[in-house]
Amino acid sequence: MKRFSAILLLVCSILFVAGTAFAVPSGMNLTFKDGKLGPVTFSGAVHAKAGLKCSACHPSLFPFMPAATGVKINMKKIYAGKYCGACHNGSKAFSAKDPKNCIKCHNVMK
Ligand code: HEC
Ligand code: HEC
Ligand code: HEC
Repeated sequence: MKRFSAILLLVCSILFVAGTAFAVPSGMNLTFKDGKLGPVTFSGAVHAKAGLKCSACHPSLFPFMPAATGVKINMKKIYAGKYCGACHNGSKAFSAKDPKNCIKCHNVMK
């Protein structure tokens, strides 16, 4: 019985650690603050709900790097189909080129 509890405890702690490791991105909100058109928030929850796997973005579109030292994103690259633009092109997700959609990413009120 003691042995069983020990194993149960071990399994629980593994699940807990794995759970927190995988919970990071769906709870992850990254803010790009270049500021020219208001900050852009990337919501991990929205993208997880869309059913995207890590490999849809990492490492091909976004190498794992701290946001602070990360790649520089701009609209020219997005319009050319890089970074967010690999999906936000009107086929996989709403188009970044449509003026109605700027506000979906850019919080112009901030
Ligand atoms: C899918 C999300 C998304 C959409 C839609 C989008 N943007 Fe952006 N935009 C970004 C990101 C990410 C950056 C980089 C911000 C940073 O690094 O701080 C950016 C940067 C910018 C910048 C500053 C850099 C540059 O390229 O000059 C401007 C200006 C800009 N966007 C204008 C627009 C306009 C206008 C629209 C609508 C036609 C638009 N954006 C739609 C995500 C988006
Ligand atoms: C829809 C695209 C997308 C998906 C799917 C995605 N990520 Fe990310 N992730 C990003 C973006 C964008 C960044 C910021 C990159 C940058 O600033 O250079 C990022 C950054 C990260 C970072 C660095 C965080 C930091 O603070 O620098 C980690 C770690 C990460 N992602 C893990 C994951 C894991 C694990 C998964 C899957 C469970 C995942 N991501 C799924 C887009 C995505
Ligand atoms: C691998 C594909 C993929 C990439 C890369 C990606 N997205 Fe998305 N994004 C989606 C999908 C799919 C949705 C949900 C469907 C939709 O809204 O068109 C979504 C939804 C969103 C929404 C929610 C809009 C709303 O009003 O509900 C925002 C904001 C957004 N993405 C911003 C970004 C930004 C900023 C980046 C780059 C840092 C990015 N996305 C990169 C696929 C992607």
